Amino acid sequence: MNPINSIAEIRSLFPVLNEQVNGKQLVYLDNAATTQKPISVIDALQSYYLHDNANIHRSAHTLASRATEQFESTRELLQTFINAKESAECIFTKGVTESINLVAASYGKLVLKAGDEVLLTEMEHHSNLVPWQRICAETGAVLKFIPIQTDGSIDLEAALAIINPKVKIVSVVWVSNALGTINPIATIIEAAHAIGAKVMIDAAQAASHFKIDVQALDCDFMAISSHKLYGPTGLGVLYGKRELLEAMPPYQSGGEMIKEVFLTHSTYNELPYKFEAGTPNIAAVIAFKMALQFVTDIGHETIAVHEKSLYDAFLLGIQQSSFNKIKLIGTNPHKIAVQSFEVVGMHHFDVGMLLDASGIAVRTGHHCTQPLMRKFGIEGTVRASFAIYNTAQEIDYFLAALQKICDRIK
Ligand SMILES: Cc1ncc(COP(=O)(O)O)c(C=O)c1O
Repeated sequence: MNPINSIAEIRSLFPVLNEQVNGKQLVYLDNAATTQKPISVIDALQSYYLHDNANIHRSAHTLASRATEQFESTRELLQTFINAKESAECIFTKGVTESINLVAASYGKLVLKAGDEVLLTEMEHHSNLVPWQRICAETGAVLKFIPIQTDGSIDLEAALAIINPKVKIVSVVWVSNALGTINPIATIIEAAHAIGAKVMIDAAQAASHFKIDVQALDCDFMAISSHKLYGPTGLGVLYGKRELLEAMPPYQSGGEMIKEVFLTHSTYNELPYKFEAGTPNIAAVIAFKMALQFVTDIGHETIAVHEKSLYDAFLLGIQQSSFNKIKLIGTNPHKIAVQSFEVVGMHHFDVGMLLDASGIAVRTGHHCTQPLMRKFGIEGTVRASFAIYNTAQEIDYFLAALQKICDRIK
C-alpha cells in the first residue's frame, strides 16, 4: 500500500478534517486532548439511535437484544484489543478519570491503612493524582512521588529506590499527556510486584500508540479512554485482574450492579456488571467498537511509524536557528508524537490564539498537570500532538505559522 495514498484514504474517513476555521483549512493538532472520529464511529452512534435504541440486558424484546448484543460485542473486541484473559475483566466507565476514581475508592479503601504508601510520578494527570490524594487523606496512607528529570523522563534509579514494602499501590501514567514521555512501566510493574504492591496504569495517551497486552505487562489495573482512541466521549474502560475485581466492593450502587435486593440489604452482580451501575452510555459503547476496529485495521505499528515521521519533521523544523525563540518542554527522545513548548516572550494562550487564526488547533495551558508545570517553573505550554490523519504538509504549514509568530517578537 502506498503510504501517501493510505493517509489520504484515512483522512477521507474523518469528515471534520474538511472544516474551515477562521477562513482557513483546519489543521487539527490537538489529538492528545481528543482525537477526531472516523465516519464508522459517527454512523454507529446514529444507527443505534435510528434503529436499535433500547436499554440493554433486561428485556425480552428484539431491539433490546440487538442493543445488548452490540454492546457486549464491543467488550469482546476490547478483550482482544488489550489481550485480557476474559471480557469480564473489561469494565465500561465514563473515562480514565472514572476508572482511576473507581480503583482508588474501591481497591484503595479496601487495602490502604495508615502508614501505607501510594506511589505516583511527578508527571501525573490530575485524574491520577487527586483521587489518590483523597483516598490517602481518608485512610492515613501517604503519597510518594517518583521524581522526574529536566528532560521530562522519570528518574528510574530513584523510582527503584523508592519502591519499598510500605508501598501498596503504584499508579503511573504510561505516556505523559503534557510531555509525551513514555515511561518504563514494565520495569516499574516488576519492581512493584517484587514487594507485593499492585499497579495501576493510566493508558489514556498510550492506547492509540501502542499495542496493549495486559497479560504480558502483568499490570493489575489499566485505564483507557475511548475519546483519545478515535471513539466517542464519555466512555472509558477499566481493566482489572479478576481476583482483584472480585475482592473489591462496588464503586457505585443502583441498577445493573445488583443480584438481589431486599429492603435491608442487597447482593451484588457478577463481573463486569458489579461495577456498571445504572444505564451506561450504550451508543458510545457500540460505536467504540468501530474505533477499536479502525485502529486494528490500520495497525499500531503503521500509526507509530507515521506519527514519528511527522514528529521528526516538526522537530527538525523547530531546531533550525530561526526558531531560537521556541523552548521545548520535554526533550527526552523516548516519547510519542506530542511536543510541549513555549514561545519565549509570548503567553502560551496568545500563541494558541494566533495559531487558531491560521486554522491550527493546538492545546494551551497546564494540561491538567499543574504540579508538573510547577516543576518546570512555568504556568503552561503550547502543546502540539499528532495523529494518523495528520500530514507532512500540515507540519510545514504549522512550522511556517510558528515562524511568523516568532518574527512578531522583538
Ligand atoms: C494521561 C491522562 N490521564 C487521564 C486523562 C483523563 O482521561 P478522561 O478524559 O478519559 O477522563 C487524560 C486526558 O486528558 C490524560 O491525558
